[in-house]
Amino acid sequence: MPQKSMDKIMALAKRRGFIYPASELYGGISGFWDYGPLGAQLKKNLRDAWWEDVVLDPCGGRPGPNGEPVRIVPLDTSIIQHPRVWEASGHIAGFSDPMVDCRETKQRYRFDHLMVYVPAIEPQQRPSSEAPRAAVLFAFMPDSPSEAKQRKKAEKAFGEPRIVSLSSIPRPWDRVLAPEAAKPGTLTEPRAFNLMFRTYVGATATEDDVAYLRPETAQGIFVQFKNVVDTTRVKVPFGIAQVGKAFRNEVTPRNFTFRSREFEQMEIEFFCHASEAHAWYAFWREERMRWWRSLGLAGESLQMREHERDELAHYAREGAGTSDVEYRFPFTAPGFGELEGISHRSNFDLTQHQQHARSSLEYFDAERGELLPNGSHKGEKYLPQVIEPSAGLDRGVLALLCEAYTEDSERASPELLLLSRRLAPIKAAVFPLVNKEGMPEVSERLHAALKHRFARLGLIEHDVRQSIGKRYARMDEAGCPFCFTIDGQTLQDQTVTVRDRDTAQQERIAIDRAVEYLGERLAAV
Ligand code: GAP
Repeated sequence: MPQKSMDKIMALAKRRGFIYPASELYGGISGFWDYGPLGAQLKKNLRDAWWEDVVLDPCGGRPGPNGEPVRIVPLDTSIIQHPRVWEASGHIAGFSDPMVDCRETKQRYRFDHLMVYVPAIEPQQRPSSEAPRAAVLFAFMPDSPSEAKQRKKAEKAFGEPRIVSLSSIPRPWDRVLAPEAAKPGTLTEPRAFNLMFRTYVGATATEDDVAYLRPETAQGIFVQFKNVVDTTRVKVPFGIAQVGKAFRNEVTPRNFTFRSREFEQMEIEFFCHASEAHAWYAFWREERMRWWRSLGLAGESLQMREHERDELAHYAREGAGTSDVEYRFPFTAPGFGELEGISHRSNFDLTQHQQHARSSLEYFDAERGELLPNGSHKGEKYLPQVIEPSAGLDRGVLALLCEAYTEDSERASPELLLLSRRLAPIKAAVFPLVNKEGMPEVSERLHAALKHRFARLGLIEHDVRQSIGKRYARMDEAGCPFCFTIDGQTLQDQTVTVRDRDTAQQERIAIDRAVEYLGERLAAV
């Protein structure tokens, strides 16, 4: 299949009001994006789908590995928590990326992302006359303009170059030419850069008032674990789910919304006994893949990848492992990018909070422990293990847009979005063929009836402007699955045409069947 163009997808996303650069009026702000009218509704539909399939009807009723229904309760915690939460979680000490600065251009780079063009043959192996020409090594950021520029210079200097990471080049880097620099040797030593955004709580704004915007929603769940257990009837195994904003001062935000500085996460922290952790980890891996597939991310562009041992985050090293649901985005192809991580966090977080807060977070499990003569159990106290399926809402929207984007030069609308009916932001559009002869009155009535019945699911549009062909094309680009048109015949026999986005075919139905017609098709998703 030909590669989809990210430039065209981004252009459509802007043109149709899905995603705009944040603060574009002032030149934009790197790493921040705004969702336009259609993007806001698409994002809500994906968030709602997650909420329905995780909180309201977990896993569509499929039992967990213990043979019982999966139990999940929702939570909504603050973006700003007590700073000691982040001390306990390890984010203050360890949530950082290594950075290098260029002293000449004042640019800053992720140390682990910087690559360097070096000669394919080491200078000492070349004839002595060639050696001096290979003295400079050319650093670049992959997928940025510096890559092609530096490659050209490298080819001129030493023919066919080889690519290595900056970290493999021994210091001092006085031969390394930084991406936009004029002379070599301007890169600093790598330094740890904490990714949490700092702010101040209260009016004095001293160092004692520093607080952080949460870099993940997960910690809010861990610090409320005890309250949830004490105030509801949940029993381990169970999950707590939360969706909300997270903030990371990413060093190099890029690839549209893929790596942003403000984004939304949809996280489940699933608490279970250590003896069942491996089974729940396997269950959630399978379940989360199934969920993304059900939304239309089917086929070879979706894969599950188990992390290598040395890739694991500090909290996952003791557990069953971490796997990522990955999607082949146009900018990662032929490689894949992470959509959701499923991690066995052991009981790392509860242990940390229990120690730092000096307050027991142990759970008393009345159904475990020694069997007593009266048939009941003695009970067991323990800190539950955690399996964490953590998905990115913005990355989900981006993957769905990329998957749905379709070019078909045979159609009057050569670009369209084949979004699933469940997620499509506009569920249906109603048009009068011409904006006169009594047609607008009929179309407005049908629009009102459809809106009254389906507004809960998404937008119902009414459009009278431009030719009917242009209106269809506009709806195809928005991913709207059905368009109803009122024409001259409607006024005579009370029928309307319905156009199906996927086939561009039209059929005539009685106007008073329109609500039922759409209901059947939207219910079947
Ligand atoms: N609580 C675990 C956690 O936060 P993570 O892998 O760092 O794990 C989970 O993040 C998900 O959040 C990722 O799979 C991704 O979808 C999303 N995500 C992380 N950083 C992001 C960023 N800078 N921009 C957009 N989405 C991001």
